[in-house]
Amino acid sequence: MKGIILAGGKGTRLYPLTIAISKQILPVYDKPMVYYPLSMLMLAGIREILVISTPDALPAFKDLLKDGSQWGLKFDYAEQAEPRGLADAFLVGREFIGGSPVCLILGDNIFYGQGMASLLQECASLKEGAIIFGYKVNDPHRYGIVEFDDQDNVISIEEKPIQPRSSYAVPGIYFYDDQVVRLAESIEPSARGELEITDLNKAYLKNGQLKAKLFGRGVAWLDAGTHESLLQAAMFIEAIQQRQGLMISCPEEIAYRMGYISLDQLRDLGKTLAGNSYGEYVLSIAR
Ligand code: DAU
Repeated sequence: MKGIILAGGKGTRLYPLTIAISKQILPVYDKPMVYYPLSMLMLAGIREILVISTPDALPAFKDLLKDGSQWGLKFDYAEQAEPRGLADAFLVGREFIGGSPVCLILGDNIFYGQGMASLLQECASLKEGAIIFGYKVNDPHRYGIVEFDDQDNVISIEEKPIQPRSSYAVPGIYFYDDQVVRLAESIEPSARGELEITDLNKAYLKNGQLKAKLFGRGVAWLDAGTHESLLQAAMFIEAIQQRQGLMISCPEEIAYRMGYISLDQLRDLGKTLAGNSYGEYVLSIAR
């Protein structure tokens, strides 16, 4: 399976922070925001990854993430000139995807919790259909909302409904089979002028091929799209990391633990970052 990180958009809700810098490069405590969704793909076992962002922001992503080989990965980059919707990622990424199944993750979504890696790895073995997730929230009208039965079958899915049929929001991580490009090509822009991921999911639902898995209450799903939520995410990460002495979403550590890089490579990465607590942490893993 291949992966796509969608990290475009204007980030206007974070102005003036994001006038000159892409939102998904802003720090969330001790690392750039994009490290968090990237880590989810790495934990899923996905190593070929397309990063999509705006023409202005893409050079910064290339500076930060490089070709991916430092973490045993392979990055491609593609421009999305206008925010044409989440499902547009599959049109922008058409060539990259080829005939492969693909996981899409939003560059501002942060996930953390027990059992995440095994759940993601199970989803990454998807052969047919699509998998989305459900996560209980207080304010369902702000999200895509899914209703599903105890066999993981989706009953309904709606984008930002005024009267939600469930309180399960659909987080920004989606797994699709090799039909995704064709189905994304078949959907029309919504009233807000975007190719909605919810309409793509409805196309799978219509074919009886949409499953939804639950992220339980032990999983944290944060987005970092407003000033408040950005600070809350940073404080959450800081609190857990300080308590445990373990980092959340450290690509160097994950690359090593997943067997993508050797111990020597990990040590070298640690040395280049040395002189602060992040580098020290990487070196401590190597020790
Ligand atoms: O966060 C999960 C929600 O994401 C889902 O529950 C909804 O079903 C889905 O439609 C989406 O909701 P939003 O309308 O709130 O997404 P937003 O427009 O904020 O875009 C999400 C991120 O993707 C944001 O960081 C910007 C980036 N983006 C967005 C669009 C529309 C792009 O890179 N390109 C785009 O074309």
